Amino acid sequence: MESITVRSSASRYLVVFGRGALARLRPMLRRLPDCTGFFIITSRRVWSKCGARITRAMPKLHAGHIVFMDDAERAKNLDAVEGICRDLLRAGADRGSVIVAAGGGVVGDVAGYAAASYLRGVRLAHVPTTLMAQIDSSIGGKTGVNLPEGKNLIGAFYSPNLVVADPELLRTLPQRQYRSALYEVIKYGVIGDIDLFEFLENNMKLVLSRDAKAVDWIMRRCVSAKARIVTKDEKESGLRQILNFGHTLGHALEAETKYRRFLHGEAVGWGMIAATSAAMAAGRINLHQSMRIADLITSVGPLPSLDGINVARLMQMMQNDKKARAGGIRWVLPRRVGEVEFAVKLNANLALAAIFKAPAFVVEHGATN
Ligand SMILES: NC(=O)c1ccc[n+]([C@@H]2O[C@H](COP(=O)([O-])OP(=O)(O)OC[C@H]3O[C@@H](n4cnc5c(N)ncnc54)[C@H](O)[C@@H]3O)[C@@H](O)[C@H]2O)c1
Ligand SMILES: [Zn+2]
Repeated sequence: MESITVRSSASRYLVVFGRGALARLRPMLRRLPDCTGFFIITSRRVWSKCGARITRAMPKLHAGHIVFMDDAERAKNLDAVEGICRDLLRAGADRGSVIVAAGGGVVGDVAGYAAASYLRGVRLAHVPTTLMAQIDSSIGGKTGVNLPEGKNLIGAFYSPNLVVADPELLRTLPQRQYRSALYEVIKYGVIGDIDLFEFLENNMKLVLSRDAKAVDWIMRRCVSAKARIVTKDEKESGLRQILNFGHTLGHALEAETKYRRFLHGEAVGWGMIAATSAAMAAGRINLHQSMRIADLITSVGPLPSLDGINVARLMQMMQNDKKARAGGIRWVLPRRVGEVEFAVKLNANLALAAIFKAPAFVVEHGATN
């Protein structure tokens, strides 16, 4: 078990991670001053798998202090936030309450936004239960919900007071969910960690089998990277944009398929392939480097197909993305493994062609595994 401090404009908080981290939950929560009660926000599925272990690690919970939400991506909306706030009110949550968000990225994002809004803000702790949430979404204070027009278009930067990420909670996580997070792990490799990238190249089978040592090592690399990046640039005015590698198209794919076809990480997998293909077409990365990226992405397993997706509408969705500013979509493009450039404007035709060609790009450059 290790810990790392993240600094935000409002405060600083500890991310405790690694096997056994859950044992730190109760003492750390008890340390929060003037706390009038703890309220868990979770989903029924998460709670059926992890509830007993989390309850044992919590300070005493009062009846009615567990609020359930639907954690399907298509239910990540403002209705969910309203439902949670009304349940919190009914259960007696006040300004001294602490919300404990127990679940994957959907629970974390929605519960985080509810915590930011309820009574104009109550304290928040994350107990992430998916690999995605443990290595990425629970850290950095981005909270929010989707609109039909696009992903995460409503939200707030709202830092937690504590994150406790214990990989023991991942035992019941379905394999597809686990794999989905591996695309984000690859992202960390491409944007700045050659050692992580090479580890994945050499050990993908081990990683896919969830070898404990491999998972722990990966987690340390990703958590440290995320903590470092969001401490440097909390509100995404510069450096933090690199974390959006693969996300401009990824978010559009999720929204365009009504949040049903792709898991978030899978959409990001396609997004990274398209960005790499676009970088190649623009002469910003060489063939060998782009093949390594495409190879590693395809080695995680098959991605849901892009069949039937309207590329023109995808472009429109991408314009709606938060990363798009007046003057067009800004891309995060790989220069080589371990280095990306951000805020790159691409010729629209070239970007369109890159998306069209993404599946062919995989067949040509990434099918060696
Ligand atoms: N805020 C951020 O910085 C940030 C970063 C990355 C991703 N995200 C968001 O996170 C979301 C994706 O999160 P996710 O990949 O964690 O998926 P998720 O929250 O949709 O959870 C995946 C599924 O796994 C189930 N589950 C969760 N933990 C489990 C466990 N331990 N055992 C068995 N089942 C379990 C859930 O009930 C759910 O059905 C997306 O909405 C994405 O936009 C946010
Ligand atoms: Zn993501």
